[in-house]
Amino acid sequence: MKNSIIFIIVLSFFGCKQPSSSNTVLQKQVDSLQIAVNNAYKPGLGEFMSEIQVHHAKLWFAGKEENWDLANFEIGEIQEALNDIPKYCSDRPEVKSIGMISAPIYNITNAIKEKDEKKFVNDFTVLTATCNDCHKETNHGFNLIKIPDVPPVTNQVFKPQ
Ligand code: HEC
Repeated sequence: MKNSIIFIIVLSFFGCKQPSSSNTVLQKQVDSLQIAVNNAYKPGLGEFMSEIQVHHAKLWFAGKEENWDLANFEIGEIQEALNDIPKYCSDRPEVKSIGMISAPIYNITNAIKEKDEKKFVNDFTVLTATCNDCHKETNHGFNLIKIPDVPPVTNQVFKPQ
């Protein structure tokens, strides 16, 4: 993104065949753009994890209520956040371990598609254990995730209507 913006600016400069005296003007624009990009808000790994935590809890209640549309939505939200992590958190070495969650996500997605509550419960247990496996592997084992006892919010309906 950052590189493509700079690339477009450089291209438009050559395209316009501006005199080389405008080099400094262009350089100033590139520099200020670079500063803006560097200062742009980027979500951190902990923020992605906190987001995943809520979807993980909602997923449980959606699945237990056999609300498969909602369960499908929640697993999609988890997947989206997981996809964004390597993009936004490339400075975190822990991201190398993210692949271990792919198979459990794939399995629970199938349980949801098959509307199989027993398989869902089993796959959710494996998914949760894998969250903790990654936390242990990345020295964050103190972030211990479990199957929730109560819904994470009281202002949302989990039963299918
Ligand atoms: C890359 C492997 C990895 C996987 C897979 C993973 N986590 Fe994490 N998780 C981390 C790391 C690293 C941290 C510490 C982040 C930080 O430094 O802020 C973390 C932190 C957390 C936190 C604490 C966030 C906070 O700021 O309070 C929660 C909650 C969490 N993870 C939930 C989950 C859940 C739920 C799953 C599974 C659906 C999961 N994580 C899967 C690596 C992982």
